[in-house]
Amino acid sequence: MTDRRRLYQRIAPFYDILDFAGEALNQRRVRPQIFDGLSGCVLDAGVGTGRNIPFYPSTASIVGSDLSNAMLRRAIRRRQRLGAPLSIVASNICQSPFPDNSFDAAVATFLFCVLDDADQLPALRELARICRTGGEIRLLDYVLPEHARHRRSAYLMAPLLRFLFGASVERNTEQYVTAAGLTVVERRLVAGDYCRLLVLRHA
Ligand SMILES: C[S@@+](CC[C@H](N)C(=O)[O-])C[C@H]1O[C@@H](n2cnc3c(N)ncnc32)[C@H](O)[C@@H]1O
Repeated sequence: MTDRRRLYQRIAPFYDILDFAGEALNQRRVRPQIFDGLSGCVLDAGVGTGRNIPFYPSTASIVGSDLSNAMLRRAIRRRQRLGAPLSIVASNICQSPFPDNSFDAAVATFLFCVLDDADQLPALRELARICRTGGEIRLLDYVLPEHARHRRSAYLMAPLLRFLFGASVERNTEQYVTAAGLTVVERRLVAGDYCRLLVLRHA
């Protein structure tokens, strides 16, 4: 079992509580943007407890995948509660079971800030493989803010985020985009400057 899987298996029962402040302050208001205009078959990679479910567009059929069965069980409960059409697949995003070109688009919210540096390129390559040419890959993550005061608070929170979620605001996902055969079509700071939306396509 990988370290990340072990961590999320352990925190799954408390995840929504531990993440409550981040969800209320930042995440909830930026989630709708990531699904804006998507349709067809869409992957929600690292679906977690299913926080994105209320924002899935009715024009899309969504597959949620995650490394942790315990997180997926909570996503299934949320799916039942909200009556959402979501298929669930347990898998590591670095080595998924999906055939080439399975998806019209893929999104990952707060997944890449959790992936270790060594997993960034394999995960991007896998998303490039399973997402059809022309389909968008949208990544939403915490990043190091540009504003000095925000940056100080991000540094203060960093040890807690690493301890609780294995997350870092200093993942350099963008440096691996070209090697994955992808290109950046949009880069936008959201939630003040705490989060960044990165939109990728095949190069
Ligand atoms: C910070 S949570 C974000 C969950 C959800 N996307 C959200 O927006 O609330 C990160 C999720 O990524 C999952 N994860 C971590 N490493 C993964 C990997 N290699 N493959 C698939 N999922 C992974 C964790 O189990 C966890 O559910």
